[in-house]
Order: sequence, then structure tokens, then C-alpha cells
Amino acid sequence: MQKWIMSGILIVACAFAAVLMFTLPGKDQVAQEEKPQMPEITLNAEQAETTVKANCISCHGDQLQGGAGPNLQKIGSELSAEQLFGIIAKGKGGMMPAFKDKLKEDEIANIAMWLAEKK
Ligand code: HEC
Repeated sequence: MQKWIMSGILIVACAFAAVLMFTLPGKDQVAQEEKPQMPEITLNAEQAETTVKANCISCHGDQLQGGAGPNLQKIGSELSAEQLFGIIAKGKGGMMPAFKDKLKEDEIANIAMWLAEKK
């Protein structure tokens, strides 16, 4: 009688484990979520300037010449739009704030593309 109970529990546990294996996100998926994906948009330079003026120049200077944050006038020769998107979305070091909760993804992508053209 007890054997039956034990094997019953075992079967249920196995079934549960199998379900978990398929429902929990795999390692690949988790890694993808950590790396922000830049949405595909077309650059709107005017909007980018407005967004940057409102959010970035307090630290990076009104001509992006630098201040509390580094000079961004030639940032496009160092970083790609995707890299810029990642930095702006997630922040950098302890000083550069993350903007993913403050700006829309499209807005971040737009300023990333705008900055990527600054060479
Ligand atoms: C509170 C001040 C502050 C604000 C606001 C700010 N930044 Fe920064 N930013 C920094 C600092 C400080 C660093 C340097 C971080 C480090 O390298 O550790 C930095 C770094 C960066 C870098 C990386 C530069 C490099 O050479 O690697 C980029 C790109 C950048 N900021 C873009 C932006 C944009 C775009 C905005 C507006 C959406 C913005 N920042 C707003 C302070 C700020």
C-alpha cells in the first residue's frame, strides 16, 4: 500500500518537473531580456534634440560639450546606436541614470540614433 503512495508521489513530482522545464524561461531567453533590444524607428532629429535638451544637458552640457558627464559631441565615432541605446536605457557607472522608466523605448532609440551620427 505504501509503495503505491510513494510511486504516485514520484510520478506527480516528475510530471511537475517536466512542466516546469518547459514553462520556465531558458537561459537564452533570460540573456536576451538583459540585453535591451533597440526598436526600429526612423530618426527624428528635431524630437531627439528636444528630448536631449529636457533630459541630458544638465549633465552633458548644452552643446553636449560635457560637464558632470562626459563630452558627447563625437560619441558616434566611439559607440554604435545599439550601444548608445543600451547605455541610455540602463545607465552607466553610478552616475549616468537609466532612462528606461522615464522615456519611451522609441524616444531612447531616437536619441541613440541621433547621437550615433555625431562623429
Ligand atoms: C545626472 C547626470 C546625467 C544625466 C541627466 C545624463 N547623463 Fe549621461 N552620463 C553621466 C555620467 C556621469 C556619465 C559617465 C558614466 C561613466 O562612464 O561611468 C555618463 C555617460 C553617458 C554616456 C556614455 C559616454 C561614454 O563615453 O561611454 C552616454 C552615451 C550618455 N551618458 C548619454 C546620455 C543621454 C543621451 C542622456 C539623456 C537622455 C544622459 N546621458 C543624461 C551623467 C548624466
